[in-house]
Amino acid sequence: MKHIYDVVIAGTGAAGLTAALKLAPHMKVAVLSKGPMSGGSTRWAQGGIAAVLEATDSIQSHIDDTLVAGAGLCNEEAVRFVVERGREAIEGLIDLGVEFDRANQAHEDGYDYHLTREGGHSHRRIIHAADATGKAVQKTLNEQVLAHPNIDIYEYHVAVDVITNRHLEKQGGYTDQAHGLYVLNLKTGGVETFSARSTILATGGASRVYLYSSNPDASTGDGIAMAWRAGCRVTNMEFNQFHPTCLYHPDAKTFLITEAMRGEGAVLRGKDGERFMPKYDERAELAPRDIVARAIDSEMKRTGVDNVWLDITHKDADFVISHFPNIYRYCQSLGIDITSDLIPVVPAAHYTCGGIHIDMKSRTDLSQLYAIGECAHTGLHGANRMASNSLLECLVMGNAAADDILENAADLQAPAIVRPWDESQVTDSDEEVVVSHNWKELRRFMWDYVGIVRTDKRLARAKRRVDLLAAEIQEYYGNFRVTADLLELRNLVTVADLIVRSAQMRKESRGLHYTPDYPELAEGSYETTLIPFSRTVSDRVA
Ligand code: FAD
Ligand code: SIN
Repeated sequence: MKHIYDVVIAGTGAAGLTAALKLAPHMKVAVLSKGPMSGGSTRWAQGGIAAVLEATDSIQSHIDDTLVAGAGLCNEEAVRFVVERGREAIEGLIDLGVEFDRANQAHEDGYDYHLTREGGHSHRRIIHAADATGKAVQKTLNEQVLAHPNIDIYEYHVAVDVITNRHLEKQGGYTDQAHGLYVLNLKTGGVETFSARSTILATGGASRVYLYSSNPDASTGDGIAMAWRAGCRVTNMEFNQFHPTCLYHPDAKTFLITEAMRGEGAVLRGKDGERFMPKYDERAELAPRDIVARAIDSEMKRTGVDNVWLDITHKDADFVISHFPNIYRYCQSLGIDITSDLIPVVPAAHYTCGGIHIDMKSRTDLSQLYAIGECAHTGLHGANRMASNSLLECLVMGNAAADDILENAADLQAPAIVRPWDESQVTDSDEEVVVSHNWKELRRFMWDYVGIVRTDKRLARAKRRVDLLAAEIQEYYGNFRVTADLLELRNLVTVADLIVRSAQMRKESRGLHYTPDYPELAEGSYETTLIPFSRTVSDRVA
């Protein structure tokens, strides 16, 4: 089946839907999600969105905090670009109908939204909807796009690869560019073509490459792997952020305890009940995430416990319940009363700071291919993302991509004629166990060897395993009909390879990349940019 649009967007999170809404008054847009519309990380965001929203705060202060958290590796131009557009982005969401929490009284400049605080921020500047900001944002964006006549939403449609010149019926007359996406329709099992003048990847992060993660199942790095196969550079993939406080409980699959709880006074306690963060950093529980996660890891190893504890019991129970109603309810369902009990927590993979290399217009290396949100790398986060800067980046860069497409609309070529997907050489898989086994193995060794602390030896071990799995999966991919699980595994092994290779190239400890083999910061800062040797887009075309 063939679909033709002005723009096709893979991803229905904050980034993808922001771009769609900006484009829709002028263009026909298709937006894909590989599961339900709210299946990405956006829906699960808790703490809120960082922006300068009151008079005692300043753009420069938000920039400075971001640079400090990023451990000398942020791109200052990107930081300024995103931070300066913060207020406009938040006002855009308020205009669409997102209901953020109100304060008891207005700030100096008349705004009356409640602002909370998180690690690394020197001001209260996180606007939020209780402890479920993502749910409020996703709900409003979903309602808006579903009501728009120029936007078609395709749930359960998995983008397989970017369509490039080599997939065209007639290759002459086109510059090297993206022409849309090959997409697996999970309802029919067939691979369809979505031809478009412009293509946007908004597929979220890759934290599910690790065994323990705060992320939903969708975070398998699909956009990063697709862009890499299409010939785009990726940058700083070694910087995967581990959130310090995920709930540790046998019945909790992945559940975050927001950093805003530490922002409102919660402290971390070790095996003996002692508070340990002050001995690691003078900012204690509000130090940037890399420092807190590493301190917890070190305490757990030092004292031999499986988790540490977060304590907010010294705060008034009504305050705790009103600020963190969802966490309160969820923990209570597991028998933990957060107003009187300590909360068992561990670090887990949370955010992909690196990604597809883009410029300030969200353009990748391939003409007419854009990347936005967590799958992209702008340089905003450097070696460690500051809390609540991610949703902000999704909004700002989603708008930037749409602006660039609209500005250049008159020059865009009509969608090209694309060759259909070819299944004549493949059969149904006879051994699906290979996929599930490889998936588990990959996530386990990434956790063990490429986690919070890396060494040369562990990285070499991981690389050997990645190479074996990559060969096996590629062979499998070449012989059998594609399924969602196979596509995700193929992307995960690509992303694992990019992470390991980037980590091997960094001969220092900086931000989220810590290795006792090179414990110091290197002189000068450098990005780890990987350049594809060749475009290896699937050959599954007639
Ligand atoms: P996502 O929201 O992850 O959406 C990805 C979309 O891509 C989904 O629709 C998915 O179906 C689709 N997709 C993926 N692959 C394919 C494919 N192959 N084909 C088609 N579709 C595909 N950040 C903050 O700033 N503040 C917070 O308070 C905060 N809290 C967080 C709490 C949790 C538990 C988590 C997990 C993250 C949190 N973050 C927070 C990070 C932030 O939520 C994410 O970085 C952000 O939501 C990413 O948005 P996105 O639009 O890039 O992608
Ligand atoms: C949190 O609420 O702790 C998550 C915030 C973020 O990841 O930015």
